[in-house]
Amino acid sequence: MHKIAVQAEIDYEVHIGAAWRPYLDSILSSHKKVLIIAPDFIVASGNLADIVKGSEHMLFVAPDGEAQKNYATAEALWNLLGENEFGRTDAVVGIGGGATTDLSGFVAATWLRGIAWYAVPTTLAGMVDAAVGGKTGINTGSGKNLVGSFYSPRSVCADMSWLDTLSDRDFAAGLAEVIKTGYIRDLSILTTLNGADTLAAARKASLELVAKSVAVKASVVSNDFKEGKLREILNFGHTFGHAIEKRSGYALRHGEAVSIGLHFAAMLSEVELGFSSSETEHLAKLLEKFGLPTVLIKGEYQWSELLALMAGDKKSRDGRIRFIGLRVPGEPDWIEAASADTLSATYEKILL
Ligand code: GLY
Repeated sequence: MHKIAVQAEIDYEVHIGAAWRPYLDSILSSHKKVLIIAPDFIVASGNLADIVKGSEHMLFVAPDGEAQKNYATAEALWNLLGENEFGRTDAVVGIGGGATTDLSGFVAATWLRGIAWYAVPTTLAGMVDAAVGGKTGINTGSGKNLVGSFYSPRSVCADMSWLDTLSDRDFAAGLAEVIKTGYIRDLSILTTLNGADTLAAARKASLELVAKSVAVKASVVSNDFKEGKLREILNFGHTFGHAIEKRSGYALRHGEAVSIGLHFAAMLSEVELGFSSSETEHLAKLLEKFGLPTVLIKGEYQWSELLALMAGDKKSRDGRIRFIGLRVPGEPDWIEAASADTLSATYEKILL
């Protein structure tokens, strides 16, 4: 086990390869009351109901996936905290994927203007992205993560044993974020993944991949917690990816949409930043090797709708759509003035 430090509004550590059960026990023994938030299958596989039985600690079984990240669930949680008189020294623990840790952090951020929270991510995407960095929030009718807070956890525990519970599809979706991290900052991640011929081989490298990806995220967040500018590099692949994710009605996993977004951003980088086309091909092949999508079927989406979604994205400024692109692998840069023609021509290139 090793620990990676993050400096934000508080300093905290991400425990990589730690066992979640003793980690949880130590949280339960350091707060009088702890509310554990987890979806059903995590509650069952972690025996969480037994862990809180007979104590003042509580368990909230959250709906699965993005469905839990809404106002109704947050309100139910606030009511529970109120009815049980949770005070400033009590705490929240989110155990689950990115949706659960985002929701848990948001509820902790807003209860009494902020109580302690801890994250136990159980998915690859959660370990390498969502649970680290203090972005918390819920979705509203206006969009994903538009209501939220930058509010760091007290610590994060990434226990690799949870990854065995993931389907290949979910593991691969998490790999899209790992590949993104490799391309923006740590080429050794790409070396490892280039050497992994199958998803099973990539799974075997989980500890290394999580540790390296968290190290990149920790360094970026520690230098720009509130996303003044630098942190935006973590959004490589996300401008187009978010639009696709939303337009698919969330039928695509976040990582699958990001995978298509990475391909789009690489193609755009060829025009705007001189990224080489052979590197784009390499990136697409790497994603495809792990079963990730990189192209869209012609006619499946309307370009005008995707464009409108991108213009409304949090990352756009004054209606100008902003992308993170690459000059070369490991060297990200901002693309802020791509013309409408360049964007639609790039879109045409990723259509099958
Ligand atoms: N998921 C991107 C970030 O945390 O900034």
